Amino acid sequence: MNEIIIRGGKPLEGTLRVQGAKNSVLPILAATVLHPGRSLIRGCPRLSDVEASVRILRHLGCEARWEGPDLAVDAAPLCRWDIPDCLMREMRSSVIFLGAILARCGRAETSYPGGCELGPRPVDLHLAALRKLGARVREEGGRLCCEAGEMAGREIALSLPSVGATENLILAACGAAGETLIVNAAREPEIGDLQAFLQAMGCDVRGAGTSTVRVVGRQRTRDAVHTVMPDRIAAATYLAAVAAAGGEVELTNVRASHLSTVTAALHEAGCEVCGDEERLSLRSGGALRSIGTVRTAPYPGFPTDAQAILMAALLRSRGATVFVENIFENRYRHVDELCRMGADVHVADRVAVVTGVERLSGAAVRCTDLRGGAALLVAGLAAQGTTRIGEVHHIRRGYEDPVRDLRALGADIEERP
Ligand code: EPZ
Repeated sequence: MNEIIIRGGKPLEGTLRVQGAKNSVLPILAATVLHPGRSLIRGCPRLSDVEASVRILRHLGCEARWEGPDLAVDAAPLCRWDIPDCLMREMRSSVIFLGAILARCGRAETSYPGGCELGPRPVDLHLAALRKLGARVREEGGRLCCEAGEMAGREIALSLPSVGATENLILAACGAAGETLIVNAAREPEIGDLQAFLQAMGCDVRGAGTSTVRVVGRQRTRDAVHTVMPDRIAAATYLAAVAAAGGEVELTNVRASHLSTVTAALHEAGCEVCGDEERLSLRSGGALRSIGTVRTAPYPGFPTDAQAILMAALLRSRGATVFVENIFENRYRHVDELCRMGADVHVADRVAVVTGVERLSGAAVRCTDLRGGAALLVAGLAAQGTTRIGEVHHIRRGYEDPVRDLRALGADIEERP
């Protein structure tokens, strides 16, 4: 099992191009199933979760192959509608294939996506929405057996703005007769990117990015080409790394408006930040100040995926910052690992209190989940001495090559088998 080794305490400086968004490309790859033809996904990030999606597409009979930085999918040969448990468990968001397979094949069979490090990953909202669309969903023996029957569009209100449930419902509604109105839809930018891809494919989807999305199903689809939007959480990660270690970075392939709550927090902590829809730069002296209370919320609120990352950046800040994690039940598993490095963080249920310390010390730590692992990278860069990070496969799920990227900013970092 590989480990990443960081000799921290050095300021960072340089320019970095941000990868394509993991949380956009995963639903887009599921959406390629809707069209019995070709889709070209430009700027597709090479992530283990993307490879897991490719394995699912190939299992379904689709062709999927890399063409340089792009991923070409041909869903014409699709000949199966079931996903085996082993493939479902590889990636927590594999459930997103359910709606697309149902729309294309009229039936779908998958298992529950395994629970994950963040706590149970229920899919009750996904299933309730599909049932409201008219699908028959049987849950037996850990398998989800779905039949589209006469899926017909109607108004469907989500009880909470779930990202995955919104995406699954949009994909299923593309196969339903008539118009579906999704009320209380999630507004994350990745849903807007999914809509852009679906429109390029000929689907009639409008309103993504607002709380009401409208889908008119059963449109004639066509071959599509789509460039994946920039990954706002990867961008936030590199900004937090420079904020913590000190230095200056300019990010390209980034949309500042997608991470404005994160840049506002870093600015409040004492960083100089400026950006637009193409570039985003940050300068930090490394000695930050605490910023009161950070509450995670659905977009456009502070993203839960940036909670661990911002926490790591504030470990040496003057004063105390309170985090309130409102989205996931169990999203502080990185705290114990950060405390091994000398951090002062206390957790009670969904609240974490971070009291800044003078110094962080390198230590042997382990990734607990994707963004918790990213937080260890940030803390290791700010710590004095050597940090050895184990279980780095978690990081590979969402970051193409963090060692390459951070080394480009001058970090003393390497990966060892
Ligand atoms: C997406 O997960 C992202 N993943 C997550 O990113 C992100 O943290 C999350 O949205 C919130 O922004 C992808 O897009 C692949 P939700 P998703 O449905 O769709 C509960 C990362 O690090 N819920 O909006 O699973 C759920 O338990 C990952 O990149 C139900 O109760 O998130 C959670 O508490 C982590 N029933 C809350 O809603 C359901 O049927 C929000 O979940 C569905 C969700």
